[in-house]
Amino acid sequence: MTVADNVTTVTAGAGDSAPAVRPDVVRVDDLVKTFDNGRVRALDGVSFRVPEGQLMVIIGLSGSGKSTLLRHLNGLHLPTSGEVQVLGTDVRHAGRKDLRLLRRDIGFVFQQFNVVGRLTCIENVLSGALGRLRGPRFGATSYSKALRRDAIMQLDRVGLADRAWQRTDTLSGGQQQRVAIARTLMQKPRIVLADEPVASLDPEISGQVMEVLFQCCIEDNITVLCSLHQVDLALGWANRLLGLRDGQVVLDSPVDTSLDEDRVMEVYRRLDPTGEKADEYQGHNGTRAPSVDPRTS
Ligand SMILES: Nc1ncnc2c1ncn2[C@@H]1O[C@H](COP(=O)(O)OP(=O)(O)O)[C@@H](O)[C@H]1O
Ligand SMILES: [Mg+2]
Repeated sequence: MTVADNVTTVTAGAGDSAPAVRPDVVRVDDLVKTFDNGRVRALDGVSFRVPEGQLMVIIGLSGSGKSTLLRHLNGLHLPTSGEVQVLGTDVRHAGRKDLRLLRRDIGFVFQQFNVVGRLTCIENVLSGALGRLRGPRFGATSYSKALRRDAIMQLDRVGLADRAWQRTDTLSGGQQQRVAIARTLMQKPRIVLADEPVASLDPEISGQVMEVLFQCCIEDNITVLCSLHQVDLALGWANRLLGLRDGQVVLDSPVDTSLDEDRVMEVYRRLDPTGEKADEYQGHNGTRAPSVDPRTS
């Protein structure tokens, strides 16, 4: 493979003189995944590449294959056929050690937060550093002072420094997801995979959590692949949309400020040609207004 083979040209924003060339951190080629002896075809020939620093939202109705796709990127699923390469690692053929090393560089944010409720917030956040440490840790004081300071800083970034020593299960859903984001940042990942991170939250809180997640990833130059089913939330944050329908890519589009109403309607049509499931993807009106535009920062 040549260097030229491994890069995607990112069109520079208005005013920039030359296009920036960034290495691809994810390459997926003709990925097929079947379940139940081939009866379910969850992914059906999916191909795309993601350059470093991109904020990509994978959008699609429930059952379109979003979770299955994300789970291939950290080796939780292996392809039935096709290739998946992440940060230079061929996930399909990687050994255990290579997968373990790869997973250190990939943070995962879950729909259901996956924080440990009986632990304090700082303990949950500190556990994000475990992949870099040797041996188990019990309680915040078993981590170094520097790590504790870093954990507080990550909590501060998500607006929860004052909750550091509080049990995590005493927090609201949106706050627990922000603790989970701080834990992911503590991991120092190069890629964050977020699988419907706001699906359990109400619309206003969803907007806040998306803002915290994307803003922190922009600051840390982390590439994001985030699945969502609400189109307006995706438009507010992504700089690229990948649309899935029945396991196939039906849309792969940059998001820019010129995305007018006609184009948005076209996104809806691609995801749901009959319009029968409009409730599923139009449910978050009013949350599309990030305080900072990620496309220009
Ligand atoms: N472990 C599994 N066993 C059988 N079928 C599965 C499994 N995981 C996902 N599927 C099926 O694959 C398709 C895509 O599912 P999924 O990736 O969860 O979609 P989404 O995350 O977009 O809702 C669905 O038809 C789902 O029922
Ligand atoms: Mg899913």
